[in-house]
Amino acid sequence: MSKTIVLTGITTTGTPHLGNYVGAIRPAIESSHDHNVLPFYFLADYHALIKCIEPERVAQSTLEIAATWLALGLDTDNAVFYRQSDIPEIAELSWMLGCVTAKGLMNRAHAYKAAVQANDESNEADPDKGINMGLFNYPILMAADILLFNAHKVPVGKDQIQHIEMARDIGGRFNHIYGPHFNIPEAVVNEDTAILSGLDGRKMSKSYDNTIPLFLPEKQFRKLIMKIKTNSLEPGEPKDPDTCTLFGIYKAFATKDEVAAVRKRYEEGIAWGEMKQFLFEYLNDHLKLARERYEGLIQSPDKIEAILLEGAEKARVYSVPSMKTIRESVGIRSLARKL
Ligand code: TRP
Repeated sequence: MSKTIVLTGITTTGTPHLGNYVGAIRPAIESSHDHNVLPFYFLADYHALIKCIEPERVAQSTLEIAATWLALGLDTDNAVFYRQSDIPEIAELSWMLGCVTAKGLMNRAHAYKAAVQANDESNEADPDKGINMGLFNYPILMAADILLFNAHKVPVGKDQIQHIEMARDIGGRFNHIYGPHFNIPEAVVNEDTAILSGLDGRKMSKSYDNTIPLFLPEKQFRKLIMKIKTNSLEPGEPKDPDTCTLFGIYKAFATKDEVAAVRKRYEEGIAWGEMKQFLFEYLNDHLKLARERYEGLIQSPDKIEAILLEGAEKARVYSVPSMKTIRESVGIRSLARKL
């Protein structure tokens, strides 16, 4: 039986936080152990350049994300784990795909449209002010990431569904013109994965600056948990777990029975201070071993580099021959006569 190719990318602009872990990293690592699946997981460092012009941050984030996935037990024997920029075929394919993509399709991309709308709302004379071509072409690069490896399934957050639809459009158009090169991929949006709230109660997100990094040293980790916003109910007053950030986070980690027990504590009026300390201890126990592995890995960037280069080699077993066929089929060929 041929394996299902599952592919996803992580943009290297930030430090992985609890929300990333629960929403994306944990399920991806689980599938890395499933031998019916061939996972391609990569660090999207070209995508990072679109919104980040701080070289140190891109490099540091690449290190942190790679260390995080490895520390959490990614199975790199089964999964192909690589850095986008180590696969030159991605950039090459991105150009070719761009040449069959209607500009109008890109005009309709949410990320670009949101940037234009922001200019409009601040009464800018130029609707494209501050928008680079990287942002405009973002969905084409993403289509290249996906199509090059003939991914069947692409696990993404809701905000990325449109990009997968565009990859399908672009892949279909290329196939129509040049022959059936690409599998047409499907987006997988897991409705069951929890969406965590952050320090201020809004969705935990880098863009709200309300995140709790996954592998913060213990003391700082505790400090942040203590900072999570709650309401002003007093100890002894019954509290609603379902609107509580602390409970939401706990639920994403705990077993059913554990969750039921804490729900009861809310009814009985557990004090916020006590719940925070409890949550800290619970998460800390849960993350301790992985944190130790993470700290070890961060201290050995050479090891991570070697793992990523090995991953790139595995990825290029697929991408090099595909690109060779694709080049031929678009008419970029050797002119030397075959004897
Ligand atoms: N754009 C995606 C994000 O920001 C990351 C990404 C890049 C990606 N290339 C991809 C995800 C290919 C899935 C498939 O979340």
